[in-house]
Amino acid sequence: MKTIIEPFRIKSVEPIRMTTRAERQDLLQAANYNLFALKSDDVLIDLLTDSGTGAMSAAQWSAVMQGDESYAGSPSFYRFEAAVKNLMPFNHVIPTHQGRAAEAILFSMFGGAGRNIPNNTHFDTTRGNIEASGAQGHDLVIAEGKDPASEHPFKGNMDLDRLDAYLEEHGDSVPCVMLTITNNAGGGQPVSLANIRATAALARKYGKPFFIDGCRFAENAWFIKTREDGQQDRSIPEIVRDCFAEADGMTMSAKKDAFGNIGGWLALNDDSLAETARNHLIRTEGFPTYGGLSGRDLEALAQGLSEIVDEDYLRYRIRTNAYIIERLDALGIPVVKPAGGHAVFIDARRWLSHIPPLEYPGHALAVALYEIAGIRSCEIGTVMFGRHPDGSEHPAAMDLVRLAMPRRTYTQSHADYIVEAFEELAKARESLTGYRIVKEPQLMRHFTCHFEPIEG
Ligand code: F0G
Repeated sequence: MKTIIEPFRIKSVEPIRMTTRAERQDLLQAANYNLFALKSDDVLIDLLTDSGTGAMSAAQWSAVMQGDESYAGSPSFYRFEAAVKNLMPFNHVIPTHQGRAAEAILFSMFGGAGRNIPNNTHFDTTRGNIEASGAQGHDLVIAEGKDPASEHPFKGNMDLDRLDAYLEEHGDSVPCVMLTITNNAGGGQPVSLANIRATAALARKYGKPFFIDGCRFAENAWFIKTREDGQQDRSIPEIVRDCFAEADGMTMSAKKDAFGNIGGWLALNDDSLAETARNHLIRTEGFPTYGGLSGRDLEALAQGLSEIVDEDYLRYRIRTNAYIIERLDALGIPVVKPAGGHAVFIDARRWLSHIPPLEYPGHALAVALYEIAGIRSCEIGTVMFGRHPDGSEHPAAMDLVRLAMPRRTYTQSHADYIVEAFEELAKARESLTGYRIVKEPQLMRHFTCHFEPIEG
């Protein structure tokens, strides 16, 4: 059969409240045109993030009932730990309430003034934790990874020549090497197993520990299986184990590829680092057998980890994005290609080329998508990255709009509705106008700033 169906039935539904375009216009005005200020009840299809927004399975909900809330030594922790080690055989698994808490602990040990930490592309919270420690993060993704039109199969790959030169140049100031799979900030693009191995080999050559940010490890493994020579006949768990066998540790947001509404972990091989990390954990998150989580959360994650590596799920998951991208491409809408793991990215700077970057074409597109169809997306461009610490403002490298797909949450007709929304937008494209920011905080302005439309 050609049709790739959702590999699940729906047992429990959550109604969506319909709104009219006129209502949405008022809601936008009341929100000062910032989509983060909308109430989620006023959103029809919420593609703001794939983080924590997925649907749990019946088996996960029943696992929740097994949750043991003992402060120390809960069996829920041991089930969680075994599920993690089954895929990522690190010596120490330290639960945290979400990914950024694992990062904060990691960089309390590896960060610090004068240090330099490379990655294919640091996610915002990773960079935030590195910078908060006084260190600097650097992004060394391959050149194709920054070209929305390039069809390279592994656009998340580390640029190995640049990493080699970087390690040579920065020497002792580099405490570790990181790699993010998939590369969220670069369009959810995967990293090949060969590139993971080569990055690990370079880290070893220079005597640096190697850490993987594994948030979307299963999606990455699916791309390895389907795109990398010699991997087609291997199981997803085998590929996942090969990826992590290269690393000295990992950080994880279990809100992504562990099907959790909350959760994360830090895993390490080194005993003394693990001891330091656990002491930090006790101070900030909780006792090492629960981290910042309840026993029932740990149970849901243990079960989720056995479901995320299911090939029928991954085939459907990746196909949904590819389907939307193919249809948008056919409409002439510039999308980041090929399809990434967790999201569809639109090149708003190119599509709305009549709106200059400092009038925020990505934001204009995201607002119009909400107004026309009630779909909430996220600008990843000049609003997010344009303001610099010295107060100056410059266009970001790209003005993208991300449609992040929650896991197992929306169906094929939602995908068709998203495409239809873009058909409608295409008709209105030339009449869309830019925005100006009329109020902004000092840091991370995109979450709370106020906008005004620039009249055309
Ligand atoms: N690393 C990556 C690659 C991420 O995508 C995220 C979160 C984190 C770390 C932090 O994890 O949210 O559990 O603390 N990404 C979400 C997103 C927020 O929408 O892309 P967290």
